[in-house]
Amino acid sequence: MEDLKRGGIAVIDFGSQYTQLIARRIRELGVYSEVYAHDGSVKHINQHEPAGYILSGGPASVYETDAPQLPAFIRDSEIPVLGICYGMQLLTEAIGGVVGPARTREYGPAIITHRARSPLFDGLAADLRVWMSHGDRIETLPPGFSALAESDNCPYAAIGDLRRNRYGLQFHPEVQHSPQGQAILNNFLFRICRCQSNWSAENFIQDAVDKIRAQVKGERVLLALSGGVDSAVAGALIHRAIGERLTCIFVDHGLLRQGEAKQVVQVFRREQGMDLIAVNAVETFLNALDGLTEPEAKRKIIGKLFVDVFSEQARRLRGFRFLAQGTIYPDIIESAADSKSAKTIKSHHNVGGLPRDLHFELVEPLRDCFKDEVRKIGAALGLPEAIVWRQPFPGPGLAIRCLGALTWERLEKLRAADAIFTDELETAGMLRKGTAQSFAVLLPVKSVGVMGDKRSYEEVLVLRSVTTEDFMTADWARLPYDLLARVSARIVNEVAGINRVTYDITSKPPGTIEWE
Ligand code: XMP
Repeated sequence: MEDLKRGGIAVIDFGSQYTQLIARRIRELGVYSEVYAHDGSVKHINQHEPAGYILSGGPASVYETDAPQLPAFIRDSEIPVLGICYGMQLLTEAIGGVVGPARTREYGPAIITHRARSPLFDGLAADLRVWMSHGDRIETLPPGFSALAESDNCPYAAIGDLRRNRYGLQFHPEVQHSPQGQAILNNFLFRICRCQSNWSAENFIQDAVDKIRAQVKGERVLLALSGGVDSAVAGALIHRAIGERLTCIFVDHGLLRQGEAKQVVQVFRREQGMDLIAVNAVETFLNALDGLTEPEAKRKIIGKLFVDVFSEQARRLRGFRFLAQGTIYPDIIESAADSKSAKTIKSHHNVGGLPRDLHFELVEPLRDCFKDEVRKIGAALGLPEAIVWRQPFPGPGLAIRCLGALTWERLEKLRAADAIFTDELETAGMLRKGTAQSFAVLLPVKSVGVMGDKRSYEEVLVLRSVTTEDFMTADWARLPYDLLARVSARIVNEVAGINRVTYDITSKPPGTIEWE
C-alpha cells in the first residue's frame, strides 16, 4: 500500500493556540498533516517528504529578541509555504520585508476583499468574512510578493509570491469564524501543493491492519479497555488485524457512569466477539478511597490501584509480548508541551502509565490520529454510535465528580442524576452536537427544600455542560431553559436524596471543566 503520510503538509508550530486545528483541517480535506516544533531537525520535519509547509501563528512579535525564528531550510525551500499570522510575518521578515506594530490591534471578525487573481482564492467571492487576531502587521512586502487581499485595517491581509508558491494570511483560515477558510486551505493543498487526497478512515484501517500484523507477527496482544473511545477503537482495530490473539482487560472500578460496565461487556464480548476479561474491582477501589476527599489524593490512589489490578491480571496471563494502548496524537503533542510548562493544574490519570517491569512492547495504532478521526475509524469498523460518540470521561471517573465522601450510595445517586441529564441531552440532540462534555456533579452540601408540603434537607447537584474545541479552554453551554427545567424537575422527582439542581456558568479559565 502507498505511504499515506507521504506528500502531506508539515505544520510548523510557533506557539499558536490553533496549531493543532490547522493539522486537523488539512486532514479533513483528506491530506495527512503533522505538527512539528519550529526548532525541530530538518530530517524530522521532512521525514514524510511534505508537499508543503504551513507556518502557524504564535504569540511573539518577530522583532523581539527571543522570537522563534524561521528555519533556514524552509526559508530556502522550493516547496510551497503558507504563513498564517505570525507565520506570515516571520516569512516576510526572513526574506526581506518589514513587520511592525499595527496602529490598531485587530481581534475578531473582519471582512477582507481580494482583488488580485491567485490560486489561493480561486473560486471564492471577492469579500470574505474572516477571523483576525494580531497586534503586528506587514509594513513592506518582501521582494517578489504582492498584496492579494486587504481589510479596512490591514492593507496586506493576504500576500503571495505566485512564482515561488509562497503565501501569507494575516487572518486564521483554520477557525470556524472564517467560513471560507477551509476553501482557502483546499486551494493551498490541491492547487498549489498538488497534494493527493488519500487520508481516509478506510485507507487508514487497511494501512493500520497491515502495520499491526507486521509488528505483532504471530504473537499475542493485551489491551486495557476502559470503555472510552480511544481504547475501544484501538481494540477494534487490533481485533480486525489479529482476531483472537488480542485479549482485553476491563477493570470495573465502580466509578463508571450508569450502565457503562455492562455495555462494555455487551459490545466487546457479545457483539464484537472479542476475548474480554472483566475484572470486578469495585470493592478494592471503594475501600481504598474511603475517607478521601482531596482530589489529587483520589487521583493518585485510583491511578496506582488501576496499575496494580491490571498488572496482577497481566502477570497471571502468560504469553503476551505486546501491550496495546489507545494513545492518540493530541496525547503526544500535549505531553511534549507539558515538559515545558512548569505548573500542574491537575495530574491526569490515563491508562498509559503501566509499570515497566511488565516488559511489554507497545502497540499504539492510533498514535497519529486526532479524536474526530478516531471516531470515524471506529464507525468504519462497525462500533456502535453509543461508543464512538461517547463524550470524554476522565480516568478517575465519578470519583472526581462526587465531592466529599465517596460512598456507593452517593455514587448511585450521582449516576442516576447524570443518566437523566444525558438522556435529556440526547433527546434534544445536544449530546453529540452542541456540547462537548456534559455531566452531573454531586456536592457534599445540603439545602432545605419543600416537597409534598414537607420540609426536605438533601444534597445539591450541579449540572455542567461545556462547549470547546480542544478542552484547554471552554465556555459553558447555553442550554435552552426548557431543557434545564426538564432535567431539574426529573432529577428532583426521580432521584431520592437530591432536592436542588444548579447549573454551572463558569468558563475555563478561570474554572476547569471538572470540579476537582
Ligand atoms: P479540566 O477539568 O482540567 O478537564 O478542565 C479537561 C479535560 O480533561 C478531563 N480530565 C481528565 N481526564 N484524567 C483524565 O483522563 C483526569 O484525571 C482528568 N481530569 C480532567 C476532563 O474530563 C476534560 O475532558
